[in-house]
Amino acid sequence: MSEQKQIEAIESALWDRLGHVIDPELGRSITDLGMISDVHVTQTDTDTFDVSVQVELTVPGCPLSDQIAAQIDDAVASYPDATLTPSITVGAMSETKLHDLVADLKAQRRQNPFNKPGIKTRVFAVASGKGGVGKSSISANLAATFAALGYDTAAIDADIYGFSLPRLFGVHSQPTNLNGMLMPVTAWGVKLMSIGMFAGADRAILWRGPRLQRSLEQFLADVWWGDPDVLVLDLAPGTGDMAISVAQALPNAELVVVTTPQPSASDIAVRSGLVALQVPMRVRGVVENMSYYEHKGERLEIFGAGGGQRVSDQLTRALGYDVPLMAQLPLDPNVRETCEAGRPAVLNEDGSLRDDGLGQTFRALAEHLMEQPDRR
Ligand SMILES: Nc1ncnc2c1ncn2[C@@H]1O[C@H](COP(=O)(O)OP(=O)(O)O)[C@@H](O)[C@H]1O
Ligand SMILES: [Mg+2]
Repeated sequence: MSEQKQIEAIESALWDRLGHVIDPELGRSITDLGMISDVHVTQTDTDTFDVSVQVELTVPGCPLSDQIAAQIDDAVASYPDATLTPSITVGAMSETKLHDLVADLKAQRRQNPFNKPGIKTRVFAVASGKGGVGKSSISANLAATFAALGYDTAAIDADIYGFSLPRLFGVHSQPTNLNGMLMPVTAWGVKLMSIGMFAGADRAILWRGPRLQRSLEQFLADVWWGDPDVLVLDLAPGTGDMAISVAQALPNAELVVVTTPQPSASDIAVRSGLVALQVPMRVRGVVENMSYYEHKGERLEIFGAGGGQRVSDQLTRALGYDVPLMAQLPLDPNVRETCEAGRPAVLNEDGSLRDDGLGQTFRALAEHLMEQPDRR
């Protein structure tokens, strides 16, 4: 092969290899996104070449640029048929190019992506009726569990007044705003979106309509979600409007009802599940939180007993299909402390799922939820 032919062959192979590098935020190939503006190969010795790659990021100084550069480096250096030495120059896209890219992405995502037939995303909406029962802790730990099990997972704080997911995931950064399209912040493997992450003008973007319905639709449509396997929603406490707007915006949504053992919580939890009589939403099951406190090997029932089973029985009777009690979680000070420190308590520090009782309970809950419900 002539020298020039070899260089051309390497350049074309490199374009292919770079096509497999995926932008972590947009979930698309960096070549498709137009982020590679030049690949230039020069020979330095027999089968030895220098390769310069020109990268244009969508957001200058974006925190993921190191990650993208490392992947490009890898794609070049691992070329099998010659020794390639990469040198990568990172710049920013021109205004016009960025404008065109975002217009292109928006054209594909003008609508709420979860509101079309045949989508693969499983949507689990966590409801409670009453506040303070641990709905947000359970949403956060459940989402973290799905991610640790390898599912592409997103989570939304639909509780726009009492948002807590940013704190529970230790997120302090703002989502990137790419000309009006918002990138979720990934923490502990979960793509997160919460009104609590926004300040000033960005909060106003998401808050154009006065009604919850509108803002949920907006959240879903204005955010670049990619194509997650699972979406977990932390719903606002209450029994009415929210669930109806969820059912409209997310026709796939399956409801998970959280309660504590005492009657005051379980009565209202039943009502939050009964919305399924008005909207076509499947209630998948009940999770009882703060069920017991383990003290010297004994289970103390601090908040009484039976709430979860009661909700399960009543919803099963009212809805005419099995609404099982899927999990009972102990009152565990470690859950609160770890979550408040910014890590979902089911995870180890390295992000893997804990192997103890809590980890196993959440693993079983996540696996149970991923089973297809009987269609009856
Ligand atoms: N199983 C548990 N053990 C100990 N503390 C818990 C447990 N579940 C929740 N908490 C704590 O109870 C409080 C309320 O929980 P939260 O998830 O914010 O409830 P909600 O979203 O229903 O209002 C938080 O401080 C949380 O850390
Ligand atoms: Mg909450």
